[in-house]
Amino acid sequence: MSKQDLVESKSHWNQVYSTKAVNAVSWFQHHANDSIRFLQKTGVDQSASIIDVGGGASTLVDDLLASGYKKLSVLDISENALLATKNRLGTRADQIHLLVADITKITFPLHSFDVWHDRAVFHFLTSAKDRKAYIQNILHSVKPNGHVIIATFSEDGPMQCSGLKTVRYSATSLHAELGKSFALIVNEKVLHHTPGGNVQEFVYCYFRILDV
Ligand SMILES: C[S@@+](CC[C@H](N)C(=O)[O-])C[C@H]1O[C@@H](n2cnc3c(N)ncnc32)[C@H](O)[C@@H]1O
Repeated sequence: MSKQDLVESKSHWNQVYSTKAVNAVSWFQHHANDSIRFLQKTGVDQSASIIDVGGGASTLVDDLLASGYKKLSVLDISENALLATKNRLGTRADQIHLLVADITKITFPLHSFDVWHDRAVFHFLTSAKDRKAYIQNILHSVKPNGHVIIATFSEDGPMQCSGLKTVRYSATSLHAELGKSFALIVNEKVLHHTPGGNVQEFVYCYFRILDV
């Protein structure tokens, strides 16, 4: 992604979150129940360090806080998205780490996270260079044997979203993209019903980082 693309991507997402209500965007969910189901599959306890990458205004973090998780981070390229999360959480926002950053550019400290979660972000990375940077970020920042949950549009999902092109995946092609350092544990196709009445097919994948 060039500097120009980065500025455009950031302003695109900021524009979306400043012109649409958070519950009107196509990816809105009252509760991220499928993400929570997949997080439960990891078996991590409440002391686990969990990052929601491109978490935007998702209520996943609200539900994880309510379940007692203590080390939560939400990263997004759009400060408007994170402001919505901060305002919704009120004083509870002090308990989480909100981070405005581009996931293809940031460098985290080594082995920061037990769990990496991404719903509907990786599929926007249409350049191989950005996907490589994203994957390197996982390998650097997630602990050995750590957990990675990625939900993308499936092979039958939309070819674009929010006016941007997407790359669609099967569990197999996502695994191939991520590489041999990842073990695919379980995957499931999930239908998402958008607020506008459309149905979008996602594939949720749970990987573990191999400690090689
Ligand atoms: C389709 S929304 C999904 C939001 C959230 N994960 C959910 O499920 O409700 C995609 C999100 O990814 C964020 N995003 C897009 N590109 C990003 C990037 N390169 N780095 C970080 N966040 C990004 C957007 O701002 C937006 O909040």
